[in-house]
Amino acid sequence: MNSVHLIISSIVFLIIESITAAPATSIIFTTLGRSRYAFDIFSLPIEINGYELQLTDGHSVNFNGHFASPYNQTVITDSTVADPPPVHLLYVTERNGSSSIYLDVVSYPGLDRTRKRSVLETGSTRSQRRLVGGSDGRISMKDRPSLVGESLIYVSTHEETGVGRTSWAAVYSTQLSTGLTRRLTPQGVADFSPAVSPSGLWTAVASSGENGWGGEVEELSTDIYVFLTQNGSSRVKVVEHGGWPSWVDDSTFYFHRRGDDGWWSIYAAILPQNMPFTVDSVVTRRVTPPGLHSFTPAASLTKNIIAVATRRPGSDYRHIELYDVASGKFKELTQLVAPRANHYNPFISPDSSRVGYHKCRGAGNNGKMIKNDLFLENIKTEKPDISLFRIDGSFPSFSPDGNRIAYVGLPGLYVVNSEGSGNREIDPDVSAFSTAWDPKRKGVIYTSVGPTFASEDTDVDIYSIEVDADEPGYTKLTTGGQNNAFPSVSPDGKWVAFRSGRTGHKNLYIMNAIEGEKGGLTQLTNGPWSDTMCNWSPDGDWIAFASDRHNPGSGSFGLYMIHPNGTGLQHLIHSGSAGRTNHPWFSPNGTHIVFTSDYAAVSAEPISNPHHYQPYGDIFTMKLDGSELTRLTHNSYEDGTPSWGPKFMTPENIQWSVDEEKCAFEDSQWLAITNRVDDAKIQCGG
Ligand SMILES: *[C@@H]1O[C@H](CO)[C@@H](O)[C@H](O)[C@H]1NC(C)=O
Ligand SMILES: *[C@@H]1O[C@H](CO)[C@@H](O)[C@H](O)[C@H]1NC(C)=O
Ligand SMILES: *[C@@H]1O[C@H](CO)[C@@H](O)[C@H](O)[C@H]1NC(C)=O
Ligand SMILES: *[C@@H]1O[C@H](CO)[C@@H](O)[C@H](O)[C@H]1NC(C)=O
Ligand SMILES: *[C@@H]1O[C@H](CO)[C@@H](O)[C@H](O)[C@H]1NC(C)=O
Repeated sequence: MNSVHLIISSIVFLIIESITAAPATSIIFTTLGRSRYAFDIFSLPIEINGYELQLTDGHSVNFNGHFASPYNQTVITDSTVADPPPVHLLYVTERNGSSSIYLDVVSYPGLDRTRKRSVLETGSTRSQRRLVGGSDGRISMKDRPSLVGESLIYVSTHEETGVGRTSWAAVYSTQLSTGLTRRLTPQGVADFSPAVSPSGLWTAVASSGENGWGGEVEELSTDIYVFLTQNGSSRVKVVEHGGWPSWVDDSTFYFHRRGDDGWWSIYAAILPQNMPFTVDSVVTRRVTPPGLHSFTPAASLTKNIIAVATRRPGSDYRHIELYDVASGKFKELTQLVAPRANHYNPFISPDSSRVGYHKCRGAGNNGKMIKNDLFLENIKTEKPDISLFRIDGSFPSFSPDGNRIAYVGLPGLYVVNSEGSGNREIDPDVSAFSTAWDPKRKGVIYTSVGPTFASEDTDVDIYSIEVDADEPGYTKLTTGGQNNAFPSVSPDGKWVAFRSGRTGHKNLYIMNAIEGEKGGLTQLTNGPWSDTMCNWSPDGDWIAFASDRHNPGSGSFGLYMIHPNGTGLQHLIHSGSAGRTNHPWFSPNGTHIVFTSDYAAVSAEPISNPHHYQPYGDIFTMKLDGSELTRLTHNSYEDGTPSWGPKFMTPENIQWSVDEEKCAFEDSQWLAITNRVDDAKIQCGG
């Protein structure tokens, strides 16, 4: 009995071994600001003075909600009705390592309106259902859900375009009873921010059309198209230049656009009575006035009001306000509840009793902090042999055995065990960026110290640091401080490749790993361009790096590799002629690289997110011959600085109790009003 069992399990083991022949490995990367979001969906009543309800459950990041059924106004205001009917809420969540769409039905049985207790105290009951995403189907970003009958309409990024620097965002319809999914966006086109008309007949989208993505990060150049929700047919452009549509009735919708005067405003579009619609037959007019930014409209179906997000002069915060179309007056909503918190992407219940939005839970005036945050968040991939993690830190790298991670805090330098224990602050104040471990000398890491994104003559130098010493010993390896950065060590531990601006251009150099420059220095690349972010292959034969040598000074970077003796230069990948691909890192077996790239462009309107300098960065892997290009992350954030380690980490989140404010992030900097004129100058002047 036992031996039979043993034989069977050995056979199973052999089969598993042969399927996953490649040794399993781990990749870690950073997402700018994401660890600070902790978004939940909240709501406020529109007419009466009520208190803010938290609608989602406080797990993970929950955003872009949509009320799937009326929230009955009578019941809310009538104090004789004991139990208000449940809220039906659709939303996007990032729990369990991938983006999915949930439907929560939340009841507030003990909600005592007279005493104004908070909803957390009253206790709610919740039923929760995952509609799409998660373990079923392909990994992708999901966005902007709505329900028509039993069909879910939403954005997903699961189909690759096959063309660099084009967005994978497209609108799909999934029949919930059968799971049958249909693409509504034509091939070769990206659609964002779908909105379904009240009858369900039409869907409006912000679309980049066939022009693709030109690298915009503030306002996408999108037009609004309308098509039949049922099958995507009768698709027609109805508005040039606009995004984020929201229907009032089946022939009118609002949208946002940044006008010629620089202000984001809400506009109305009125479609003609009969098809076919054309841009010329659609009447558009500006609705909200200049003097403040108004965007991401949500129209009421029953009242002449729009919920909008605003940025007002002198405020750094995004708030939800109601705009009365007839009187032209704004009414503040979230400003009264949490003036010093950002609030995003409003939506209104069909009976116009409540407005929903998302914000950081715990943000606001109560000073509540978020505890138990994720230090290493496991992200699902379609690669069973790769364990992928987002780390709450920058420029992470694995020790040679994979058991430790070095990372920087911008500022600060840290080392932690890969399973999350033993975090050590090597230096909390050092302005270190990039980390690399010595493959031979145990506990030695290399980093560059100084400002990032700086010019060639900036004071940046490379140090090696013995992190296991009682008093961490620093050795300065470069001199002269001419932006010496991104060290990477040869597998024999003898040499360090790095970039330096010492000739007036950033090129690659190799120096002695122990004594630094004075122990030997050679220039590896030479030219009036920028070579940077180098990584030495595990077999020692290649140094991969990012460079703009194809178009110096353009800001466009591609990946290259070269032999350490300066021969054999090869171009690895470039995402379109103007694209940005950076931070290459070899797989432990040297056959692949991981990197960050704008290859899949942007996945959502950037204005619907907090600030990201580059809302297009995703993590990809690729074989060195250019084949097997694989997108690992799908989101609308800035993912970067990946590195690859030799050990498979258990794909589970690692939580840390933190005592710091986790809701500290900036709203879109380019909406700041005080410096608007200067900003415009900077952009025009390059
Ligand atoms: C090398 O590593 C890559 C990435 O993990 C993997 O896909 C590939 O199968 C490995 N090759 C071999 C020969 O193990
Ligand atoms: C709202 O609830 C009240 C009380 O239950 C009910 O009489 C009324 O018909 C409801 N209104 C709508 C629009 O469902
Ligand atoms: C998914 O995430 C939720 C909330 O974080 C958690 O309670 C649940 O256990 C997770 N489910 C799985 C299968 O990991
Ligand atoms: C799409 O649906 C409409 C009705 O909703 C129908 O008239 C039309 O024939 C359909 N087109 C296709 C290509 O299936
Ligand atoms: C340069 O190095 C590569 C591998 O590292 C080697 O194959 C090649 O022969 C070398 N070329 C010269 C000219 O030394």
